[in-house]
Amino acid sequence: MRFTTFSILAGLLLPGLAIAQLSGTVGPSTSTAHKTATKICNVLNYGAIASKTSDLGPPLASAWAACKSGGQAAGTMIFIEHTTDFEMYSSTSKGAVQGYGYVFHKAGAYGPRILRLYDVTNFSVHDLALVDSPAFHFSIDTCSNGEVYNMIIRGGNEGGLDGIDVWSTNIHIHDVEVTNKDECVTVKSPSKNILIENVFCNWSGGCAIGSLAAGTDISDIEYNHVYTQNSNQMLMIKSNGGSGTLKNVIFQNFMGHSNAHAIDLDSAWSSMSTVAGNGVGYSNITFDSWHGTVTNGANKPPVQVFCPAAVPCTGITISNNFMWTEAGSKNPIKTIYRKASRFGGFENV
Ligand SMILES: *[C@@H]1O[C@H](CO)[C@@H](O)[C@H](O)[C@H]1NC(C)=O
Ligand SMILES: *[C@@H]1O[C@H](CO)[C@@H](O)[C@H](O)[C@H]1NC(C)=O
Ligand SMILES: *[C@@H]1O[C@H](CO)[C@@H](O)[C@H](O)[C@H]1NC(C)=O
Repeated sequence: MRFTTFSILAGLLLPGLAIAQLSGTVGPSTSTAHKTATKICNVLNYGAIASKTSDLGPPLASAWAACKSGGQAAGTMIFIEHTTDFEMYSSTSKGAVQGYGYVFHKAGAYGPRILRLYDVTNFSVHDLALVDSPAFHFSIDTCSNGEVYNMIIRGGNEGGLDGIDVWSTNIHIHDVEVTNKDECVTVKSPSKNILIENVFCNWSGGCAIGSLAAGTDISDIEYNHVYTQNSNQMLMIKSNGGSGTLKNVIFQNFMGHSNAHAIDLDSAWSSMSTVAGNGVGYSNITFDSWHGTVTNGANKPPVQVFCPAAVPCTGITISNNFMWTEAGSKNPIKTIYRKASRFGGFENV
């Protein structure tokens, strides 16, 4: 793996501002300036060489040990767990982690994820490029009060190479570009108070919520200003069976073109095996201010809402929807699937 400039900082306190869906401040408790003045463990001072043939592993482990406790695990190149007040970034905004995923993929295999945070609170990850992960690029697992921003993800053109997956509480993800062919920025269960803004999904799978299974527990999620092109969908909510709830969600200011789907709530998603349960309860979900086109409205309608038959959706609102089609049906907005479902409080404004 190749690193340009990469620093781990240890240190102390600067709360930011709470906005929109967030329940409180996000990010490390200590200001960058304070940490820089206190202690820097720069991998370049622990034997790292900025070259595609040198191994960053030992210098990174040494820098990490010198700055803060942490750990590494099989399945992930950089695994940060059980810590607080954590910040990871490239101080020049030029830092990139090269995962050499193609080496694994041409052998028909997946390898480790590039980056995973588990049980981390009060953190930020920013100004980094994650390139060609052998598997998922970045997972945010059971964390809280986090900010992720100014990130570029360049993955391979196949499934299983998710951009950012988050299942956590009070997380702000913004100013992110993802090029891959699977999830762009996706929320999984359980999650609460997630704000995702200013995302560019370029030749991606697209953003999603799911896959949702038994005991789904997701609420207070906002996606705002998401631009998507040449992707599988602009936003998909996916389940097949399952239980629990997804509620209080807003997707606003989406723009896109050349995507297969735009809005796709699919409670019988065929790419997922059916799991136990009558279905996930979908309630109070708003899609507002959507603009753009899908590739073929006759094959795949820009708006597809397919609720579980036994668990009616409630409070699904689609407003200011200006989605159209590049080919196929001339009036695609009419093609809302209501197969095997009952809608409580469904509106199409
Ligand atoms: C995390 O940040 C919040 C908000 O600034 C603060 O109340 C809390 O004490 C911090 N937690 C830790 C473990 O530092
Ligand atoms: C979008 O993805 C395409 C195909 O991978 C790539 O050629 C192009 O550089 C990307 N555009 C941006 C702005 O990242
Ligand atoms: C519906 O969700 C929105 C967030 O999208 C929230 O502000 C609102 O309070 C929720 N409404 C109800 C009745 O819970």
